[in-house]
Amino acid sequence: MAGARPNFMKLAPIYFELKKYKQFKPIIVHTGQHYDKEMSDLFFRDLKLPEPDVYLGVGSASHAVQTARIMQAFEPVCLKEKPDMVMVVGDVNSTIACALTAVKLGIKVAHVEAGLRSFDRTMPEEINRILTDQISDMLFTTGKDADENLRKEGIDSKKIFFVGNVMIDSLLRSITVIKKKQITVIKEEPYALVTLHRPSNVDNKKTFSRIMKALSSISKWIPVIFPVHPRTAKAITRNRRHIRVLGYQYVDIRRPEYQVKNQIILTKPLGYLEFLGLMKNAALVLTDSGGIQEETTILGVPCLTIRENTERPITITQGTNKLVGTNPDRIIREAEKIIRYHCNRSLNRCNRRSQRKRRPKYWDGKAAARIVRVLRNT
Ligand code: UD1
Repeated sequence: MAGARPNFMKLAPIYFELKKYKQFKPIIVHTGQHYDKEMSDLFFRDLKLPEPDVYLGVGSASHAVQTARIMQAFEPVCLKEKPDMVMVVGDVNSTIACALTAVKLGIKVAHVEAGLRSFDRTMPEEINRILTDQISDMLFTTGKDADENLRKEGIDSKKIFFVGNVMIDSLLRSITVIKKKQITVIKEEPYALVTLHRPSNVDNKKTFSRIMKALSSISKWIPVIFPVHPRTAKAITRNRRHIRVLGYQYVDIRRPEYQVKNQIILTKPLGYLEFLGLMKNAALVLTDSGGIQEETTILGVPCLTIRENTERPITITQGTNKLVGTNPDRIIREAEKIIRYHCNRSLNRCNRRSQRKRRPKYWDGKAAARIVRVLRNT
């Protein structure tokens, strides 16, 4: 089961691993939580996934309506296909909706990326994570800290399997493709790469304009490339008058003639490979995404997370991540430190020195194989 952009790179390695064994007949169900070409189709293409076997086409709505629609549409699929197991990934509304539907029909549920906790229940994802873990029969985790979180919530150790990070399976596989194809969407160096989409950052006018102000200051030093999530695009439109003074423009970054000086460069959401290519060569990444904190850790790219907490603390202790919150002065100060450290004084050339410390255990490209091994042995 998958539904939203961050699900697809987690689903792909598991699907391909399952396909190696005759005993498994994986069926891909796409809920349609994300439906734009840039948020879905490009990912299926880049990950070489086949078309979903079932497309529920639920689309966007409030949390209650979206979750209910997914459950309503997924139940007949379960009744028709009678699967032995429903496997859900991540922490989006599709994750909890499909898990809940399956468990009520007496179908076993496996949750991939279980046990992550931000301990911030104002995040919709935190609620999805806690509830999905409570009703899952098999919980596959990316780190020992997640195992510990699950045990503290009373989950039987026998259900917990520390297998590593499937998103890194996709990353490592795709990096070789990027190298071969030389995917570059920007020649300017150094540059900062930004993603923002958390409701707490973009739906709140004051917070959003404070972050945009910080990005505007950073763009005076180096170009700031900002692929814009649909939720964030709405926030930009809503606050257009308010943030116009900060200097930004929408451009197609594949065209050579775009102007990047002193501007935040906004682009449409990018495909998986294009985005990885941009991230790999960035001087720094500023983000509020969960997955990008993990990907920058493996790529050795400095990451500033525009949030007060993270459900992925391992990216701080063993990776390149730093929490900077939403205070513009703090964001600017931390970005400046990275730019000065990693780039030479004139800021014309960036040597992108790797910040990598240690790669977390089992973030090695073999997590899906471990999951399938567990499934074969049970
Ligand atoms: C969802 C997930 C979040 C994940 C994020 C990744 C939940 C609760 N949130 O948040 O955990 O990090 O995806 O992107 O599941 N929209 C489009 N086209 C699309 C999809 C959405 O235009 O293909 C617009 C809709 O107007 C929608 C808004 O974006 O209302 C937000 O989409 P939604 O799926 O509700 O939440 P995300 O913010 O994407």
